Amino acid sequence: MLAIAIRFALYAHLMVLFGWPLFALYGKRDKASGPSGSQLLSLTLVAALLSVAGMLAMTATMSGVAITNVDRDSIAAMVFETPMGVAWLVRMVALATIAALAFVRSPVVGVAKVAFAAAALASLAWTGHGAAGEATKGMVQLVADIVHLLAAGAWIGALVALGLMVARNASRLTSANFISMHHALDGFSNAGTVFVALLIITGSINTWILVGPEGIGLLGGDPYVQLLAIKLALFTVMLGLAAMNRFRLTPALSRDLVAGAVPSGALRALRRSIAIEAGLAASVLAIVAWLGTLVPPASL
Ligand code: HEM
Repeated sequence: MLAIAIRFALYAHLMVLFGWPLFALYGKRDKASGPSGSQLLSLTLVAALLSVAGMLAMTATMSGVAITNVDRDSIAAMVFETPMGVAWLVRMVALATIAALAFVRSPVVGVAKVAFAAAALASLAWTGHGAAGEATKGMVQLVADIVHLLAAGAWIGALVALGLMVARNASRLTSANFISMHHALDGFSNAGTVFVALLIITGSINTWILVGPEGIGLLGGDPYVQLLAIKLALFTVMLGLAAMNRFRLTPALSRDLVAGAVPSGALRALRRSIAIEAGLAASVLAIVAWLGTLVPPASL
């Protein structure tokens, strides 16, 4: 249970650490869209602590001992003698670099921080089934899993940025704030479509390799397939909400702005929809944290 909780928290932190600053690069309309230096630093420090806890939990599982009884030699062997250990080291170096640059503000450093966060997030592919394959098929699986993680991070990070934007009190917002909010929402819809397409393509590759055509039939009895099915059901609801934001709620906000009205109703509806979408995304990450600890049908 502890290992699943640490995986979940690590997914969430590393996805926000990547996707939120990324949103500030392509969705930037006002200063509110990106994390501040202290927000970035705290996200990075928590991700580093979770990574240490994750390594201890993984070493304990591999050595078959309690996390409190893990010895130094086993940790050293995991860190320096396994591909997962190398990925972990890359993540720690990337996080240390982001922490060092947290308060530096320039376009080039902004891109560098997102690149290091992408490396930290991609390193999670070595903690689940992503790096379990061999030869060409294994390489396809690894690349698909890394793209899957980054697409999921981009979507979830944008949800945090948009969520914070619409969470602001309408009475304190100027029409300029509302216009840039509308631009940010409108600007996200194109990027969002790309993230969803990448998730479906790489998710299908993952499903094909880890479940396989025969495994689909095991829906009735295999916990891995059942959890994946629940994940896809939640994903479908998230897609519905995203479509509603794009085709109904964002245009409603724009209509109010054109009419010169304060769009408090549209803002309330957007706030509710984005909060539900973010809650569903958190549930998807909880399921995936669990999925990564189960044996997929194709490996049985
Ligand atoms: C909101 C949308 C989605 C999110 C946030 C999401 C997130 C994730 C994450 C974080 C992983 C773990 C990767 C790892 O640790 O290596 C994962 C794995 C996976 N995803 Fe998704 N995913 C989404 C949509 C999809 C879709 C649409 C499919 C299928 C078409 C899919 C199929 C899979 C499969 C089969 C795995 C491998 C699970 C394992 O580690 O055994 N995902 N997903």
